[in-house]
Amino acid sequence: MSKNIATIILAAGLGKRMKSGLAKVLHPVAGRPMFLYPVTVAEGLSSEKIIVVVGHQADSVRDLLAGRNVEIALQVRQDGTADAVRAGMDSLKDYRGTVVILCGDVPLITPETVRGLLAMHEKENASLTVLTTEVEDPSGYGRIVRSPDGFIARIVEDRDADEDIKQIREVNTGIYAFDSALLSSVIYDIRSENSQKELYLTDSIEVGLRKGLKVSAYKTNDSQEMMGINSRVELSRAEGIMRRRINNRHMLNGVTFINPDNAYIDADVSIGQDVTIYPGTVIEGNTAIGDGSIIYSNNRIVNSRIGSGVILKDSCVIEDSVIGDSSQVGPFAHLRPGCALEKNVRIGNFVELKKSVMGDGSKANHLTYLGDAEIGSGVNIGAGTITCNYDGEGKYKTVIGDGVFIGSDVQLVAPVKVGDGAFVAAGATVTKDVPPGALAISRVEQENREGWVEARKKRKPKKQ
Ligand code: UD1
Ligand code: CA
Repeated sequence: MSKNIATIILAAGLGKRMKSGLAKVLHPVAGRPMFLYPVTVAEGLSSEKIIVVVGHQADSVRDLLAGRNVEIALQVRQDGTADAVRAGMDSLKDYRGTVVILCGDVPLITPETVRGLLAMHEKENASLTVLTTEVEDPSGYGRIVRSPDGFIARIVEDRDADEDIKQIREVNTGIYAFDSALLSSVIYDIRSENSQKELYLTDSIEVGLRKGLKVSAYKTNDSQEMMGINSRVELSRAEGIMRRRINNRHMLNGVTFINPDNAYIDADVSIGQDVTIYPGTVIEGNTAIGDGSIIYSNNRIVNSRIGSGVILKDSCVIEDSVIGDSSQVGPFAHLRPGCALEKNVRIGNFVELKKSVMGDGSKANHLTYLGDAEIGSGVNIGAGTITCNYDGEGKYKTVIGDGVFIGSDVQLVAPVKVGDGAFVAAGATVTKDVPPGALAISRVEQENREGWVEARKKRKPKKQ
């Protein structure tokens, strides 16, 4: 593209039709607030400037943009899409080039389509080009009215359309390219003479034509991409399309899905080659999965790093944790936030970990709770082991050295330390530090009373 590009993203509206306390553009699509998709498209176009117009829940929108090279413009009152553009234009005073307008509620749009719009805009040497598409059900959209010779004449909003215009199936996508030199003369001539008393950006077509400017329309075929989200029904439709798109991308990169229609992978998840994903898997947030791992059915993984060659057996919850290469976890395990497993770790059935570290090759295979524990390498944690990390007031640490053997059914009453190579006998309640290499045993010695059962029967005759 030869000209400079600046992009304004309209994201100030509340979105009444969502019936939500959350501003529409903050509703996630595949785990990412929807307005971040057009922001990413703008970045993909190498926009020199990206301006996001914020209003409703502006602080949340702003926070989500932290660290990105974008400017924020505040639209104080949401007086319509043209007013939103006015708010964004303050940042463009010294800018010369093309201004692309994207909507925060059109998340499926791709950079290729916008590039097509820009190519047409340049080829036609237009002052203003609007992106249009034809849809089966045009209700809710602005309709594209063309003159008898086929040129765009105006856009009529659904609310303001008569029956004839409502039949038109070519609609406004809300995406435009403007020549910056003419933008303000058009935008500031728009008036709010419509059913909503709002300043409609769509009126820029008529205003432009009236001023003798070259106005064109770029019609595309993939109407799915242009879908605007106004209700939760459309939100769920966009979610489905986006998830399909994400899973296709992973499949093309070498990931196997047993059923891609039953795997929910968020937009920001990365997955290595030769990973296999079974049905019912939900992978959220900033999760990364290394090469060759297998994720069996019904796992939920949130903001976690899974190494390569990991086997995650069925029905685990993994939150804000790290699992090292070649480890195995599950079935039915729960890694709560703050866990870090090094390589070759084994976590088995009904094991819960919280804020715990386990070194290379350590194992906790059955029915165990490990909280605030720092566990070395080559440690065996027996079935039913519990760290008693909480006394009703504070949380305390359990430190277990390398090569320790913890027998079954042990309670480790924190704060407590078990030294390297120590052996804790089954059933022990460990309240004192165990020196390296020592045996810790805490049991009442067993007593066997011969013939006790028979004697009891004689003592207590059976009830009638
Ligand atoms: C708009 C278009 C319509 C088009 C449709 C495509 C207008 C008047 N209508 O309608 O022709 O078919 O998009 O999806 O432009 N916004 C602000 N400030 C405001 C109002 C809106 O920032 O004062 C933002 C919203 O947050 C949203 C976008 O602009 O991201 C579009 O607004 P919305 O109210 O959804 O417009 P539609 O009725 O869908
Ligand atoms: Ca909309």
